[in-house]
Amino acid sequence: MDSILVHGGAPLSGQIPIAGAKNACLALMPATLLSEEPLTLTNAPRLSDIATMSLLLESLGVEVQAMAGGRVLAMSSHGLASTRADYDIVRKMRASNLVLGPLLAREHTAVVSLPGGCAIGARPMDIHIEALTAMGAEIELRDGYLHAVAKGGLKGARVPLRFASVGATENTLMAATLAKGTTVIENAAREPEIVDLARCLRRMGAQIEGEGTSTVTIEGVDRLSGATHPVVTDRIELGTYMLAPVIAGGEVECLGGRLDLVAAFVDKLHEAGVEVEETASSLIVRRNGDRPRAVDVVTAPFPGFPTDLQAQMMAMLSTADGESRLEERIFENRFMHAPELVRMGARIEVHGGTAHVTGVDRLRGAPVMATDLRASVSLILAGLAAEGETLVNRVYHLDRGYEELEKKLSAVGARVERVRAE
Ligand code: EPZ
Repeated sequence: MDSILVHGGAPLSGQIPIAGAKNACLALMPATLLSEEPLTLTNAPRLSDIATMSLLLESLGVEVQAMAGGRVLAMSSHGLASTRADYDIVRKMRASNLVLGPLLAREHTAVVSLPGGCAIGARPMDIHIEALTAMGAEIELRDGYLHAVAKGGLKGARVPLRFASVGATENTLMAATLAKGTTVIENAAREPEIVDLARCLRRMGAQIEGEGTSTVTIEGVDRLSGATHPVVTDRIELGTYMLAPVIAGGEVECLGGRLDLVAAFVDKLHEAGVEVEETASSLIVRRNGDRPRAVDVVTAPFPGFPTDLQAQMMAMLSTADGESRLEERIFENRFMHAPELVRMGARIEVHGGTAHVTGVDRLRGAPVMATDLRASVSLILAGLAAEGETLVNRVYHLDRGYEELEKKLSAVGARVERVRAE
């Protein structure tokens, strides 16, 4: 297992290109199942999760061609070989459950493994099941798999979600495009990745209104055509790299950054005394001189503060001036980065879903363990400002969501290198 070695202390300066969004691409790829014609995605990120989703789609009979070094994904599913998503793939990546809605819509049947828990929580699928059942699907849990059937196809329905689940909104949205009649999703998730998926489906001929709001209305159609669609910018990668100069000092321009994707996050940076400038095609973050101020953060569904930036924000607050309070309201166990940051000298006390952080002048480098995707990158960010060396182990977590991280950070002056396992 590779590790990442960070030598702390260098202020940063330069440009970081932001890639296409992992969490948009993982929802856009299963959309190919909805049409017999080719769906081509451009600006796709080169990540191991995308490779995993490609493997899953190929196991269903989809042809996936990665071109331009993986930036372009040309997919076609004129004939499906299977409607079963196996446990060995789904357990590695929960987003595999996003084939459930499209398979039900197209084939009226699907067998999808329950993902099982992961480091940050139990990750159940009750909201997905409730929504698709409201549309006429019969779904039964047997031997760890969801066995779903929609006799005569799915029917449009009113689908109130008890929680604005991103994945459940995506499964329902895709399923509704081919259902008979009108579907109204209430309390829908509003994330930019949902908006991006709706735009792609509309390009394929779907009739959708209201994406990005809490109520999304879909008129089912008989069939969808192919399309070519650019994956939206990754707002979580963007926020992650915006924090690098805040922690290490200096100025970084994030190419492709858009304020509307990270508004709640930038509000918190402003509150912390950090300067963020928006240009026509980027966001520039600069912190010269004094430390950022402590701020309180509560994670919430979009447009609130994103849970996927909570760990990275904790790394920044560990060296901010004052006491901060971080409340994680989306996942039940998403503070595993805290004890690792404490090993680096951070002062953090976790009580249930709340972490109290008292900023310290300097962290000290140490060997630390990555436990999940966003925790691993928060440790690297912490290492940028720490005295001495920080060795982050198990970086396979990192490769799921960050393309060429060490290259992007080295290009702005950070001393970061990958240590290959023998
Ligand atoms: C998506 O996961 C993202 N993943 C996550 O990013 C992100 O943290 C999450 O949305 C919240 O923004 C992808 O898009 C591939 P949810 P998803 O359904 O869809 C509970 C990353 O780091 N819930 O909105 O699984 C669930 O347990 C990853 O890139 C149910 O109880 O998130 C969680 O507590 C991590 N029943 C909360 O809702 C359900 O049926 C939010 O889950 C579904 C969800």
